[in-house]
Amino acid sequence: LPKLQIALDGPAGAGKSTIAKIVAQQLHLFYVDTGAMYRAIAYKALSSGAPIDDEAKVSQIAKNTEVVLDHSEEQRVWCDGRDVTQEIRSLEVSRAVSVVAAYPEVRKRLVELQRLEAERGGVVMDGRDIGTYVLPEADFKIFLTATHEERAKRRWLELRRAGKDVSLEEVARDMAERDRVDMERAISPLKPAQDAIIMDTTGLSIQELVAKIVELAGG
Ligand code: C5P
Repeated sequence: LPKLQIALDGPAGAGKSTIAKIVAQQLHLFYVDTGAMYRAIAYKALSSGAPIDDEAKVSQIAKNTEVVLDHSEEQRVWCDGRDVTQEIRSLEVSRAVSVVAAYPEVRKRLVELQRLEAERGGVVMDGRDIGTYVLPEADFKIFLTATHEERAKRRWLELRRAGKDVSLEEVARDMAERDRVDMERAISPLKPAQDAIIMDTTGLSIQELVAKIVELAGG
């Protein structure tokens, strides 16, 4: 039986992970947060003291790092056997991750892991290049967008809820920079696949979006 694949791409703060998690639950699929994998590599590079712009060094680190996403309720992220679920959400990691994610060797290694995940079972996979590159044959490709203001506000609220003291302006600035790097990189840039359904999430509730996607996937 072919395994269902739902690709969910879009810029930061478009609501991908929140929606992907619930859709996966409702359709009994694995949720694969590919951004968490890139974050784990960025985290490891930062904690090893490697300069983030040293491509050779960071690529070497990526090759020697074991990244595991578990499929429990909590969606823990493991890096070389250590639970880094909290650490990978720091501002430092958020600032470094796009640089690390632009390195071909880093992508090559993580895309392999992502495709393996999709072989294990049906998936809702969220990221930037899932529909264009990781799962080009995905059954459903959805590209989520929202206005810059709304995305920044969502991200800011998320950080505030996690107890991080940061201004909305700072979050908006960091986010714009991250999206710019993600869209302008040479390899697998952030963009909708040709056959993706584009959904503007501005002003829509999580429930509305989930319902739309579940309906689309015939759930
Ligand atoms: O999804 P999240 O915001 O956690 O992703 C963090 C970063 O990881 C993105 O800004 C991007 O640089 C990188 N990424 C990527 N390709 C993916 C998923 C994430 O380049 N499929």
